[in-house]
Amino acid sequence: MVETVVKINQLQKKFGKVEALKNITFNVYKGEVFGFIGPNGAGKSTTIRTLLGILRASGGSATIFGQDVWHDAVAIHSRLAYVPGDVYLWPNLTGGEVIDLFLKLNHQEHSDKTDELIEQFELDPTKKSRTYSKGNRQKVALIAAFSTDADLYIFDEPTSGLDPLNEEIFQKRVLELKQAGKSILLSSHILSEVERMCDRIGIIRQGEIIETGSLEEMRHLTRTVIQVQTKDSLSDIAQLEGVHDVKTDTAKQNKVSFAVDSDQIGIVMEVLATKVILSLQSTPPTLEDLFLRYYNNDSQEVNDNAQ
Ligand SMILES: Nc1ncnc2c1ncn2[C@@H]1O[C@H](COP(=O)(O)OP(=O)(O)OP(=O)(O)O)[C@@H](O)[C@H]1O
Ligand SMILES: [Mg+2]
Repeated sequence: MVETVVKINQLQKKFGKVEALKNITFNVYKGEVFGFIGPNGAGKSTTIRTLLGILRASGGSATIFGQDVWHDAVAIHSRLAYVPGDVYLWPNLTGGEVIDLFLKLNHQEHSDKTDELIEQFELDPTKKSRTYSKGNRQKVALIAAFSTDADLYIFDEPTSGLDPLNEEIFQKRVLELKQAGKSILLSSHILSEVERMCDRIGIIRQGEIIETGSLEEMRHLTRTVIQVQTKDSLSDIAQLEGVHDVKTDTAKQNKVSFAVDSDQIGIVMEVLATKVILSLQSTPPTLEDLFLRYYNNDSQEVNDNAQ
């Protein structure tokens, strides 16, 4: 049976009248990378800070390793590494000193791996923290986290300040952790990052999880765009179930483009196969389309399609 590392059930958080989290429910299982995606202000950081015991939930429950995130925070933290999106460091300590301090606070030691990470991320550890750029501050926290032997790694938009080369190093390191059976919760805005690394994702909007599943499952909610030119008339296509946005080429009557729900492609292709096809092009759904549909207040429609 798969071990549940993070279990969040109907979590709520109010800041005065602001309902930052209305209903957050999802699990993170052992050995998986879970991507937590949503627009600015959706509640990602609030969820993560509640998991870390920094904020106290207003309702619902959350456990990590089967322990309550608020009451058992100390025990949980001994098995957890965390990197926030905005990293604040002690300005008068050097990067190297901060890394060692982070490690010490987590009951870890500076190891060969730490040196390897410093080299790989190309951080100059002798500089005072106050001179570091945002990306360098993030590297300090990432190096400390990756050289920590933990069971759960939580990253809150950890690559927002990293250049593409360092982002790639980050992704490789996360996949290494996964291969070692660790669990990773990662919030991100970068779709390619999520696509490459995450086994499952949860989409959060306005304090609610509106979809959870694997990328494959989510792709079923999207539409493929088909452009086709035939000898015969294509007037029957628009009547088929699951076909949307039919556009006829103004110059060529038997050339149309349309979007089709993923679960109806087979039927549409059967109809097309009865015709003499001159050209056919299909554009697969991208994650971007899916997210834009969610972000653009379309969630109801997407959810309806899923049922
Ligand atoms: N300490 C606080 N006091 C009052 N409101 C807060 C506080 N922290 C967060 N909020 C509100 O809670 C909501 C969720 O914020 P949160 O920082 O969790 O979003 P996010 O998904 O992490 O966004 P981003 O992608 O910009 O990091 C926002 O409306 C925010 O204004
Ligand atoms: Mg945030």
